[in-house]
Amino acid sequence: MNKKKILVTGGLGFIGSHTTVELFKAGYEVVIIDDLSNSQVFILDNIEKISGSKPSFYQLNMTDKKKLAEFFTKEKSIDSVIHFAAYKAVGESMQKPLKYFMNNLYSLINLLERMEVNDIKNIVFSSSATVYGEPDQLPVTENTPFKPALSAYGSTKQMGEDILQKVAATKVIDCISLRYFNPVGADSSALLGELPIGPPNNLMPFVTQAAAGIREQLVVFGNDYKTPDGTCIRDYIHVTDLAKAHVKSCDRLLNNEVQNNYEVFNIGTGNGISVLQIIEAFEKYNNIKLNYTIGKRRPGDAPEIYADVSRANKVLRWQTELGLKEMVTSAWEWQKKNNL
Ligand code: WQD
Repeated sequence: MNKKKILVTGGLGFIGSHTTVELFKAGYEVVIIDDLSNSQVFILDNIEKISGSKPSFYQLNMTDKKKLAEFFTKEKSIDSVIHFAAYKAVGESMQKPLKYFMNNLYSLINLLERMEVNDIKNIVFSSSATVYGEPDQLPVTENTPFKPALSAYGSTKQMGEDILQKVAATKVIDCISLRYFNPVGADSSALLGELPIGPPNNLMPFVTQAAAGIREQLVVFGNDYKTPDGTCIRDYIHVTDLAKAHVKSCDRLLNNEVQNNYEVFNIGTGNGISVLQIIEAFEKYNNIKLNYTIGKRRPGDAPEIYADVSRANKVLRWQTELGLKEMVTSAWEWQKKNNL
């Protein structure tokens, strides 16, 4: 029987590359679009080393309507799309909001237009916990109302979900939006991982670079929050567990199981972990002393957010399998192997 073909946009990125590996393992065929603005082409070979399969790869930015149309004349019979391609640096999005709105929204709109023209009916959308803003109730469920997004990046995810919901309501597509919490860690092979270009925005790559001596010192952004140890709490999830949620979503779409054309799932562990707990786990499980200091709060940080993941557990039949130990040890193995 012919393998189902999945288009993974942003497929050489952190989550896209891990998802591509899991798609191959699940028996899918994969084609990747990536503009290499936040990834590197050696990841393609590493995907092949891990999975024994090499995806077809097209380097293009999806705001280029002509190039995207050409892509779809070359790549026929795509069964589903997983759309990762977007800029994702929260801080940068506040300095250059227009860059984020143009890239993240225009890419999505061009993609949806091409899907309609080519009769491609299934899409998984890479959304984010940032759509919740600073929630009043915890853990957040999929019905927790959105608060104003704390960044332009978060706005593009709120708007992206709204665009998809309204297009899905016309029944031309079925869509599953996955709201990621904090993806961390790396494939057990240490051949894939976070590849921050320039100083990292996120905590884990900063921790591993500080441990590797690439960064002088890790700064903890504030310890005066109303949390048990004063530092912010997040729901950190291993990127491989997150990748597997995308495979489950493709299965669900291709089995025509999506209810009312549009479904949303929180993808986290359901556990809130503080910055200091991440540092403590990193030191303990990697037997390393981290050089860190307590600094000022970072504007826009929510004190605490973590997920209610019961819907994904029940409806997607997806569970996390990897814990904090695997998150911090796999991140360190990746850092050491690639000395980024
Ligand atoms: C986590 C915690 C920081 C760096 C964002 C996006 C989310 C996703 C992940 C894209 C916070 C603290 C961080 C440092 C620190 N992005 N921190 N020192 O902000 O929860 O989520 O990135 O997909 O959509 O919103 O993640 O890793 O930046 O921060 O103390 O050097 O670590 O204050 O409390 P965040 P983060």
